[in-house]
Amino acid sequence: MITLGIETSCDETSIALLDNEKILVNTIYSQKEHSKYGGVVPELASRAHLDKIDRLARYCFDSTGISPADIELIAVTDCPGLAGALLVGISFALGMHKGWNIPVTGVNHLEGHICSVLLENKKIEFPFLALIVSGGHTALYRVETLDDFYCLGETVDDAAGEAFDKVGKMLGFSYPAGGSIEKEAAKYEENKTETPVFPVARCSQGAFHFSFSGLKTAVKYFIAGKEHTELMHIRPAICYAFQQSIAEALIANAQSASNQTGIKRLVLVGGVACNNNLRQRFYNEFQGDVFIPPSNLCTDNAAMIALAGYLRFKRNKLRRPKMSPNKTL
Ligand code: KG4
Ligand code: ZN
Repeated sequence: MITLGIETSCDETSIALLDNEKILVNTIYSQKEHSKYGGVVPELASRAHLDKIDRLARYCFDSTGISPADIELIAVTDCPGLAGALLVGISFALGMHKGWNIPVTGVNHLEGHICSVLLENKKIEFPFLALIVSGGHTALYRVETLDDFYCLGETVDDAAGEAFDKVGKMLGFSYPAGGSIEKEAAKYEENKTETPVFPVARCSQGAFHFSFSGLKTAVKYFIAGKEHTELMHIRPAICYAFQQSIAEALIANAQSASNQTGIKRLVLVGGVACNNNLRQRFYNEFQGDVFIPPSNLCTDNAAMIALAGYLRFKRNKLRRPKMSPNKTL
C-alpha cells in the first residue's frame, strides 16, 4: 500500500512516499528564509511552502516511478502548527483528493513525531514514555496505544529547541542554532576553559513539567557586558554548560516519570533529539530501554506523518483533516 505523507506545519516542507511501513522517498526542504531573523517568520514560511511543495511531490514521483494513481492514502499534518503553513499542505492534500479520489487523513504533528521512532524500531512494546523535544514543543507523554496518549508534562514557557535557538542568537549563531551550539560545545571538551554554571529548573514532586526560560535568562546575564573577543573565547564553555543544563532537565523528568509510572521504555523524538550529547546521555543514564530515531527522522519530515496515517488506516481510524490547536493529542 502506497501512502503519500505531507508535512508543512512549520519551516520544513516535506513530501514522502511509503510502501506499507517502508520509506521509498522522504524529501525535505529546510527553509533558509528565516536564518537572519532568529526564528520562523510565518508569512515567509507559508510562501516558501507554496513555492516548493509541488516540486518536492514531482521529485517523489519521478524518483520512484510511482504515479498519483498508485497512491491509496494521503496523510497530512493538520495540527498543531502555523495556520498559514498548515493550510498549504492541507490544500495540496485536498487538491490531490479531488483530482485522484484518494482518501485523506489528518495527522497530529506530535503523533507523527512519536511514530518517527517506529520507522526504524518496528517493535516497541506498549506502554512507553515519549519525550518530544523540538523547536515548538517539549512534552512528555505516556503512550498506552497509538490511540491513547496522556500528557504527563510539558514546558511551561520555552520549548527546548526554542531555548537552543534563542541562546544561539545571543551567541551569534543563525537560526536554527541547535546544531551550531552542539558543534561549539564539542570544542569545549577538547580545550577546557572555566565552565559557567547554569540553572536546571525542577518542578515540584509528581509534576513532569519543564521550564527553560530561566536558563535562557541566566545565559543572557552571563554574557552581558562581555567584549566580543572574550565572548568568543568562552563561547564553547557556555554552549557546553547550556547543553548540559537542558540534558539534565530532560533526563531528570523522564527518569522521575519512569519511576512513578513503572514504565521502563522511553522514546526520544523531535529535532533536539539530533543532539549527540543528549542521545548518548539518555542511552547511558536512563534506567530502561531508550529508542531514538536516526537524526534525519528526528527533525520534521513527511515520512513520520505518512507512517502515522498508514497505521491509523490499518486501525480504521481515519479522520478528516481539521485545523485545531489540539495540544494533548
Ligand atoms: O522537530 P523540529 O524539526 O521542528 C519542530 O517541530 O519544532 O525541531 C527543530 C528544532 C530547532 O529548535 C533546532 O535548533 C533543534 O530542533 N535542533 C537541535 C539540533 N538539531 C536541531 N537542537 C540541539 N542539538 C541539535 N543538534
Ligand atoms: Zn516537529
